[in-house]
Amino acid sequence: MPAPRAAAAAALLLALLGLAACSDRVADTHPQQWVSKRQAVFKDFTRTLEPLGLMARERQAFDAAAFRAGAQRLQALSTQPWALFTADSNYPPTLARPEVWTQAEAFRRAQDDYRASVAALVQAAEAGTLVAARPAVEAVQQRCKACHEQFRQR
Ligand code: HEC
Repeated sequence: MPAPRAAAAAALLLALLGLAACSDRVADTHPQQWVSKRQAVFKDFTRTLEPLGLMARERQAFDAAAFRAGAQRLQALSTQPWALFTADSNYPPTLARPEVWTQAEAFRRAQDDYRASVAALVQAAEAGTLVAARPAVEAVQQRCKACHEQFRQR
């Protein structure tokens, strides 16, 4: 455990240097908060997938029940961000590329591919084995990455 005062000092230093997470982003001033809302869902994607990745790579003990619950949670989230990419929602601080809007069909395909990989993950979780879990997690991570390469700035 780091000493709280040291952690606070480090946080202050980072803030002063302008290096704190997200400090380079402007505020989302849109009344509907589209960008903030979808970014919050994507962060939840990451939070939910992370423990599954750790289990799949044997960096954390495989727990079949926890794995299944996580896969199901990821599936529930997997439908959520897309409706938040409204026509009027390409504004700072978005990390989305303009292709989200100019290549809407390809963006939809990337969503479908992603959801299919998550459905396969849920199926794999039913097997309750690490052998089934590992490739399914890798396939999901590939879908995240593939979409980001095409549709996210970084
Ligand atoms: C179909 C495309 C697509 C898929 C699939 C996708 N993302 Fe993204 N992701 C995006 C786009 C576009 C953004 C930028 C959103 C914005 O800033 O408006 C984004 C943003 C993010 C962010 C940044 C949020 C922030 O505020 O910093 C994270 C983290 C993220 N995605 C994680 C994931 C994870 C993890 C997965 C897979 C489990 C995933 N994404 C799947 C398109 C996708």
